Amino acid sequence: MWAASIARFLQYAGATGLFGAALFYLMLLPPDGNTSAGALRWPKPLLVASSLLLFLGALLSLAAQAATMNGISLDKLDMPSVSVVLTDTQWGHAIAARIALSFVTLLTVVLIKPSLRLWQATCLLGTVLLASFAWTGHGASTEGAGGAVHLIADIAHMIAAGVWLGALFAFLALLCLPKTQDLEQQTTLFNALKDFSGVGSALVAVLVVSGLINSYFLIGLDHIGQVFQSPYGVLLSLKLVVFSGMLVLAGLNRFRLTPALEKSIPAGDTAYAIAALRHSLILETLAGLSVLALVAALGMMEPPIAL
Ligand code: HEM
Repeated sequence: MWAASIARFLQYAGATGLFGAALFYLMLLPPDGNTSAGALRWPKPLLVASSLLLFLGALLSLAAQAATMNGISLDKLDMPSVSVVLTDTQWGHAIAARIALSFVTLLTVVLIKPSLRLWQATCLLGTVLLASFAWTGHGASTEGAGGAVHLIADIAHMIAAGVWLGALFAFLALLCLPKTQDLEQQTTLFNALKDFSGVGSALVAVLVVSGLINSYFLIGLDHIGQVFQSPYGVLLSLKLVVFSGMLVLAGLNRFRLTPALEKSIPAGDTAYAIAALRHSLILETLAGLSVLALVAALGMMEPPIAL
């Protein structure tokens, strides 16, 4: 059902934005001054939009699942069929928890003023919300001894995805929202890019190792040979192609475009360097969102291990 995949995508985009952007404000923006998250205009609205996406996506996910489980279309849905899913299934319990927690998060980001306390609270709530996906996807599908390994790998995968995608959303806001960039903004942008590229390699390592563990439990060594014969295998391969594109763009930012910005700041001629970074980060973010869309569809399919 298309609605279930769209609902997963909205939730992935919302949860990665919520956790990753709040972490970005805490780790990569100065604690005070004109370019701190408390002084800039976009940090809080980005968190409000992310938590709203997550909350609405979780509600749509429940509706889509209830319709599928009752064999009816979304427009024929009624409360009894929804409450059966909520009360009688483990998936229903997990989605109920996510709906409740994402609503609390939405209230938190709306009611608390931009401050260190808001970023810390959002980061914590975002961590729990990201981890919760393991229980509504394939992350919790492995029984026995391997179950805990698969679960931990999937949670690590979600957190790493959140750090990367959330940072991309914040970098785009930093790059695209102020019409002109004064020296303070250019310096903050350069420092954030430099510091983020420092954690980049560790992020990629966590994504690849946890992704391989996910693949081991969901494809299985016996099915490796036929992986391209299953729609699941084709979509996962497509995901890895897009991921490789993100790696190339991230490398370009780190080794070419960020050093170019560093050189252009003292020369007072940053227009070209900033435009090049803006284009590259827009492409990397679109690729990241495509990965989330592919995974949203993957999560609705029977993995090869189950066939
Ligand atoms: C930018 C890089 C990546 C992002 C943003 C990303 C994101 C995600 C997300 C959001 C999930 C869903 C987890 C869930 O709902 O439980 C997922 C699952 C998965 N990822 Fe990744 N991932 C990335 C890289 C990789 C890599 C490099 C691999 C393989 C080496 C990989 C393999 C997988 C597998 C096998 C799954 C399970 C899919 C399923 O639910 O059936 N991912 N990924």
